[in-house]
Amino acid sequence: MVERLLRWRLLSPKRSVRLLAVDPDANLVAATRQLRTLPPRWRIEFDVASLAELAERASGQFDFVIAHHLLDLLPLSSAVADLLRLLRPGGVFWATLNFDGLTEWFPPLALDRTIGAAYHASMDQAGEQRSQTGRRLLAALRAAGAQLGAIGSSDWVIAAREGGYTADELVVLETMLEFHRQATAAVVGPTAFERWLLARQRQIAAGELVLIVHQLDVAGRAPASGSTVQPVGARRAWSRAR
Ligand SMILES: C[S@@+](CC[C@H](N)C(=O)[O-])C[C@H]1O[C@@H](n2cnc3c(N)ncnc32)[C@H](O)[C@@H]1O
Repeated sequence: MVERLLRWRLLSPKRSVRLLAVDPDANLVAATRQLRTLPPRWRIEFDVASLAELAERASGQFDFVIAHHLLDLLPLSSAVADLLRLLRPGGVFWATLNFDGLTEWFPPLALDRTIGAAYHASMDQAGEQRSQTGRRLLAALRAAGAQLGAIGSSDWVIAAREGGYTADELVVLETMLEFHRQATAAVVGPTAFERWLLARQRQIAAGELVLIVHQLDVAGRAPASGSTVQPVGARRAWSRAR
């Protein structure tokens, strides 16, 4: 992500920038430490912490927070509150790769609908449809008083091109099939699942399999200083009056 910030010129390499890379998994943080060269005026620090722990000790300290491939793993309203809490008033957030309830395999097989439903249900936790995080996030951010900016899809689309799948694409396909086994084999029965799996593996070998996983990215701003959360109806009336 730091490399993308540079490549896409989201932050100027000429400005003085302090970055903090955080994850509760110490191994992941250690791997990130091998970061490539940064512009001379950029500094990066590392921390092993959960989002909630960081929000507790670094409230209001950041101009820009990126939650990359994270929010669909957490209880949404508290995660959104923690994300916004990290920002200075009016600070910018960017929440990327929020799974949004669609996993499509092509060509279709008879068991797809049952397997897909079981897979998505395995992500849901008591009282919370985490498999629908992308669209639920929009409402959760508004309810927390955030201002929504750019919203768009960041779907994974994996298909063989000339030369087949890349090594990374094969890892994703195999990992997704394994997630499906863990989540759905007991629901559809091991024999039926193995038949479905074998058909998918044959499609991979033939370079025929396409996988589409729908995700949403959302960027916006934390509430400005002194602003309060308004009911959605009141905000609509306010924007019509402008
Ligand atoms: C899908 S991975 C994405 C990792 C990394 N952001 C990236 O894109 O390479 C999800 C990450 O969320 C981290 N995670 C799990 N629970 C978390 C929490 N409560 N607060 C912050 N991160 C958490 C995991 O350790 C894992 O590294």
